[in-house]
Amino acid sequence: MLPEPAPNPIAEITEPAIAEMVHAFYRKVRQDAVLGPVFNTTIAEAAWPAHLETMCRFWSAVMLTSGRYSGNPVAKHQAVTAIEHSMFDRWLALWQETASALFVAPIAAEFMLKATRIGASLQMAIFRRLPERAARQAQTVA
Ligand code: HEM
Repeated sequence: MLPEPAPNPIAEITEPAIAEMVHAFYRKVRQDAVLGPVFNTTIAEAAWPAHLETMCRFWSAVMLTSGRYSGNPVAKHQAVTAIEHSMFDRWLALWQETASALFVAPIAAEFMLKATRIGASLQMAIFRRLPERAARQAQTVA
């Protein structure tokens, strides 16, 4: 179930709104039993401000087509050997929870749509096969 939206949900995608989303999301991620250990062992305490800044630029590029991010997320994730397929569902659940708590529903849905698409292509690149859910469905059909 989705959480109730905040009393005054954000109704416009701006740089400060993206920063709020990114910071709130990674606060949850770092405390999460499944995702926390992967992030906290890969990103040293002192490197978190830079990571959050990178993620703000990434989401600005995605949501506002600002061109503020340049990098290679596939290579970055390929290097994180502790990432498992099943973690993507958890990542997306926390993303959805955070977006729904901060934004009006259509904007939360837009954040979710982008993350789902990018997550699917990341999974294909990292694991060189279909995302887990699709693979499970394919097995059921076969
Ligand atoms: C299981 C899910 C995921 C895990 C465990 C994960 C983990 C990580 C970690 C540990 C890093 C830091 C890598 C480093 O600096 O060495 C990172 C970077 C990043 N992640 Fe993820 N990630 C996940 C899913 C996603 C998704 C779904 C997206 C996008 C929608 C995403 C976008 C990025 C980006 C843009 C970076 C920064 C790349 C750069 O430094 O240029 N990640 N991720």
